[in-house]
Amino acid sequence: MSDTIDAETGEHDWREAGDAWGHQAADWACLFEQYADEVITAIHQRVGIDDAVRALDIGCGSGLAIRRAAASGASMAGIDAAEALIEIARDRNPGADIRVGSMFELPWADESFDAITSINSIWGGCADALGEAHRVLRPGGRIGLSFWGDGTPNDLRGCFKAFARNAPVTHLNGMRRLNDIATPGVAEDMLVDAGFGVLERGARVSTLEWPDAEIAWRALASIGPAVPAIRQAGREHMKGEVLRAIRDCEGRDGAYRFRNDHQFVIAEKPSATS
Ligand SMILES: C[S@@+](CC[C@H](N)C(=O)[O-])C[C@H]1O[C@@H](n2cnc3c(N)ncnc32)[C@H](O)[C@@H]1O
Repeated sequence: MSDTIDAETGEHDWREAGDAWGHQAADWACLFEQYADEVITAIHQRVGIDDAVRALDIGCGSGLAIRRAAASGASMAGIDAAEALIEIARDRNPGADIRVGSMFELPWADESFDAITSINSIWGGCADALGEAHRVLRPGGRIGLSFWGDGTPNDLRGCFKAFARNAPVTHLNGMRRLNDIATPGVAEDMLVDAGFGVLERGARVSTLEWPDAEIAWRALASIGPAVPAIRQAGREHMKGEVLRAIRDCEGRDGAYRFRNDHQFVIAEKPSATS
């Protein structure tokens, strides 16, 4: 998520966003990233990931979507603002073209890719990133985006709210704009404005599981929006708030299980003849 868009100026500091998302890179990669399993499967089927395509994952983080696509035989590229996450993505995907950089200035030529994915990385206010995606996708190619929905189940909402409550007000205003994308029609309008034709909107339930409270905290503290809250309120304070917010998700075995509404939209770049 590009979580450093200034609510008033619309300016975005991608390096700052990358620093936040990479601040506990191993915890993100080992404990959180699998939240996306269900939408990655749905999106890959719909954008046609197979051994005949060259595809790009925008905001690839530590590279789960790249791993899955590469396992289907696709030739993969990825880009993310977080250097620490990119290091992990490269280790995991030695054959892929994975770069540190901004989704607002993609370092690839026009029409380089047959398919593009972006898993929870393009949000409200990121319209220019879709313009870049349109440029590097070939005519007739498909794009699939995912983002958290605002429906049910929503087990992580209490935790996200705890981080938001404790973040500086300026940061909070920027977050509200990003989360606009959960409103039905917003992602579709952004895609149409960038020149795509929308094909489908769908949803999956994302599942996350951690074996105990300490690991749950480490996983949740690894997300980008944890950084401003921890900086402002302190790590111990945030740990207490977050563990209180998630206590209903603790099972009788002491493990924490979370289910969340995860939305996706699939769109196509019109072919030259259409
Ligand atoms: C919610 S994480 C998702 C990461 C990955 N897609 C996944 O699902 O595991 C959002 C990602 O967007 C990246 N990001 C934020 N702003 C960016 C920008 N302007 N350009 C490239 N990546 C950006 C962050 O570094 C972070 O890795």
